[in-house]
Amino acid sequence: MHHRHYLSVTDFSAEETYTLLALAARLKHKWHKHQRPSKRLKGQTLAAIFEKPSLRTRTTLEVAMTQLGGHTVVLGDSIGLGVREPAMDVAHNLARWVQIIAARTFAHATLEELARYSAVPVINTLSDREHPCQALADMLTLQEHWGELPGHKLAFVGDGNNVAHSLLLLGAMLGLSVAVATPAEYAPDPLVVQRAEACAAQHGSNIVITTDPQIAVAEADAIYTDVWVSMGQEAETATRQSIFAPYQVSQALWARTGNNQTLIMHDLPAHRGEEISAELLDGPHSVIYDQAENRLHVQKALILTLLERT
Ligand code: CP
Ligand code: NVA
Repeated sequence: MHHRHYLSVTDFSAEETYTLLALAARLKHKWHKHQRPSKRLKGQTLAAIFEKPSLRTRTTLEVAMTQLGGHTVVLGDSIGLGVREPAMDVAHNLARWVQIIAARTFAHATLEELARYSAVPVINTLSDREHPCQALADMLTLQEHWGELPGHKLAFVGDGNNVAHSLLLLGAMLGLSVAVATPAEYAPDPLVVQRAEACAAQHGSNIVITTDPQIAVAEADAIYTDVWVSMGQEAETATRQSIFAPYQVSQALWARTGNNQTLIMHDLPAHRGEEISAELLDGPHSVIYDQAENRLHVQKALILTLLERT
C-alpha cells in the first residue's frame, strides 16, 4: 500500500520541496534541450478527476504523462464523485487500474476521502482550500528569476482563497516573506495564517495580513493576484466585483512597491480590467506564462517523486 499523497503544500517538508523544485528545473532543462519523451513511466496511468473546468491543469497533467512515457485518463463530472458513488468507492476502483490519481474538487473533504481510501498517491489539483501544484510552479518561477527565495517578499492582493492559502504556506516554508491584502470579510483562513506564521518564524521571514493593498505591496519583489470569483462562486459575482474593486492590481499599485523590478504574477485564467489591469498583465514584468509553463515541469517532478521514480 502506498500512502504518500500531496493534498497540501505542507505534505512535503521544506527540504523535500527544494529537492522537488531542483528535479523540476532539471526536467525542464532536459525537455528544452532534447524535446524527447522518456520511458520512465512506460505503461503507467494517471487518472485525472475534474469536478470543475480547467485549461492548464488538464493539459499539463496529460502532457506530463506523455513526456514521461505514460498515459492519462481524464474523468469529468460524469463519474459523479460522491453522487453516483462515494469517493471511497471511486478511490478503491481507480487504485486497481491506475498508478496515481489527481483530483480537482469543490470540497477539500472529497480529496481527503479519496486519499484515505486510495492505495495509490493522490494529488490535489485545486480544492476550496488549496492549489498546491500552482504554488510549486510559482516558486519555481520565482527561483528562476531571483535565484534564491529567502530574503524576498511576495505580496498577494485580492481574495484570501485557495491560491492565497497555498502561497502563504509554501512561501513561509521556503523562507519568503508573504503579505496578503484582502477585504476584511475575505481574509485567508486564520488556521492557514497561524501555520504560515509558525513556519515563517522558523525561517526568519514574516507574514503580514492586512486590508490595505498599499501596505501589502510596500517593498514587494512580486505582486500576485487571482480571480475575485472562484469556480463555484458565480452567484456572488456582482457583490464580489463591487467589494473587490479597490483591490485591482494596477500600474499605480505596482509603483507603490518602490521597486522597478517587481514581478507580476497570476495563476490564470485572468480577467483584464478586473483583478488586474491589462497593461500590467501583458507588461514587461509579467511572468504569467512562465508560471503556466512551470505547472508542467513541477507536476512531472511531483508524479515521479510520489511514484518513487526519481
Ligand atoms: N491555474 C490553473 O489551475 O488553471 P486551470 O484552472 O485552467 O487548470
Ligand atoms: N481561485 C481560482 C483559481 C483558478 C485556477 C478558483 O478556485 O477558481
